[in-house]
Amino acid sequence: MGIRFFLPAITVPLLIACEGPPGADANATCTQCHNSGSLIVSATEQWRTSIHASGENTDRNATTCAMCHTSEGFRECITSGKTVTSASISNPSSIGCRTCHKIHESYDTSDWELRTKSPVQLMITGETLNQGKGNLCINCHQPRIPDPLPILNGSSVTIRSGYWGPHHSTQASIIRGSGGMELSGSEAYGNSSHTDLTNGCITCHMAAAIGNKSGGHTMKIAYESYGTTAYNFAGCKECHNNTTELTNLLDAVRSETDSLLTQLAGKLREQNILTSNNQINATSNAPLELSSNQAGALLNYLLVKEDRSGGVHNYRYIKALLKNSIENL
Ligand code: HEC
Ligand code: HEC
Ligand code: HEC
Ligand code: HEC
Ligand code: HEC
Ligand code: HEC
Repeated sequence: MGIRFFLPAITVPLLIACEGPPGADANATCTQCHNSGSLIVSATEQWRTSIHASGENTDRNATTCAMCHTSEGFRECITSGKTVTSASISNPSSIGCRTCHKIHESYDTSDWELRTKSPVQLMITGETLNQGKGNLCINCHQPRIPDPLPILNGSSVTIRSGYWGPHHSTQASIIRGSGGMELSGSEAYGNSSHTDLTNGCITCHMAAAIGNKSGGHTMKIAYESYGTTAYNFAGCKECHNNTTELTNLLDAVRSETDSLLTQLAGKLREQNILTSNNQINATSNAPLELSSNQAGALLNYLLVKEDRSGGVHNYRYIKALLKNSIENL
């Protein structure tokens, strides 16, 4: 008897809770984003063509890799302030909307807010970089610390792995103009005007989109158009106003950088630091014994090679690193 009386008293408030606060339309905030507009659709289409979305390396989900290679790991590290996760990530997902935006936290348009815009202390040098919205990118696109890290004119270094070096993500360091070993030589170290943009990476990589081929959430500048390479220069226009001139400048800088990289690789091969196919000539059983400055030249080679901007990110710094490394070897 008692149970029959109590049941309605429990179910009524539960039903009200499911329908949202009395008098409010529970879906009102959802439709700020989920509506007939194409904002989400177009951003999603652009993002799908990006390497972030394809997530070739989402399986790099161990504690020391997950911050940069999984959505879950990044979110954990931004909250904890650490660069390693507490455990490896099961069911990892690729770098997507929820990685960079606060999707489904407040359930209104404030969720477009970037997950972080805080300045970033670079692992390799400990320096802090502050480039507005670009800080989001810098967290992941920064070098890891080579083990061991060579010091200019320091003691000799033993390299025990073919994977030694700053990792594939050296862009933030190149933009900052630091992290390399500043060997002495004929070329002065300096920085290009590109190194100090208010919003850093996104000024150039997230400029107005061209369909889903470049710009916006594709993060691409170069793209294929009718079988040839085209460039999205929308982010460059405030400073470079002539597209033909800029294309020529870009090609010239890229071919000079490639040529210096090839020369430096040649020197490193001559000294048996690189193998005939430009891999580091070291294993745990057959380590490489190098002077600190030889290891520095190898570090400089890897920093520029992995930056992959063809010199554009910071031409002055890149040119000095490569030229002086070649002279030193
Ligand atoms: C800031 C804009 C925004 C608001 C507000 C928002 N959403 Fe979403 N929602 C998204 C985005 C972006 C995705 C795609 C997420 C992805 O692909 O990672 C999404 C995905 C979804 C999905 C697909 C499944 C999933 O989780 O990916 C559902 C269902 C959904 N939202 C429901 C809702 C509901 C219900 C509300 C309101 C209570 C809401 N959303 C409010 C942006 C929003
Ligand atoms: C600080 C962030 C960061 C950490 C930590 C990190 N990575 Fe990466 N990794 C990146 C970025 C960014 C790229 C893509 C760089 C690019 O495409 O220019 C990348 C690329 C890669 C690639 C692809 C290389 C290629 O040529 O396609 C592999 C493989 C990889 N990482 C493995 C690992 C492993 C294994 C770990 C952990 C031991 C790890 N990464 C830790 C940021 C990181
Ligand atoms: C790698 C990080 C990253 C990922 C992944 C990402 N975004 Fe963004 N998104 C950004 C940044 C940075 C901006 C700001 C761009 C600017 O100010 O020019 C932005 C801006 C936006 C905006 C404009 C927001 C506003 O305040 O008007 C929308 C909409 C958006 N993103 C949707 C998405 C959707 C949908 C996804 C998933 C398909 C997604 N983003 C994935 C970094 C990212
Ligand atoms: C959570 C870490 C993370 C964040 C944040 C991030 N990236 Fe990435 N990015 C990566 C990784 C990892 C890859 C390589 C993905 C792979 O190989 O699986 C990558 C790939 C790229 C590539 C493609 C490189 C290629 O191989 O062609 C570009 C360009 C890029 N990111 C730019 C950006 C920009 C610009 C931002 C900021 C808006 C950003 N990234 C934010 C981790 C990140
Ligand atoms: C905030 C202004 C600004 C933006 C934005 C900008 N540049 Fe530049 N860029 C310069 C200046 C100034 C120089 C002249 C050399 C210097 O002062 O560093 C330059 C030089 C260059 C060079 C020659 C190499 C060098 O550093 O001397 C190339 C190539 C280049 N820019 C390409 C680009 C591309 C491509 C974009 C867009 C994706 C771009 N720039 C965006 C200001 C800018
Ligand atoms: C001044 C404009 C400019 C800025 C700022 C800039 N980039 Fe680039 N970046 C370029 C250009 C131009 C290329 C080479 C063109 C190409 O091949 O897409 C490039 C190439 C790359 C590549 C190689 C893969 C690819 O897409 O070709 C990655 C990854 C990358 N940039 C990431 C970043 C990150 C991360 C930042 C911020 C730390 C950044 N860039 C800042 C202009 C810029």
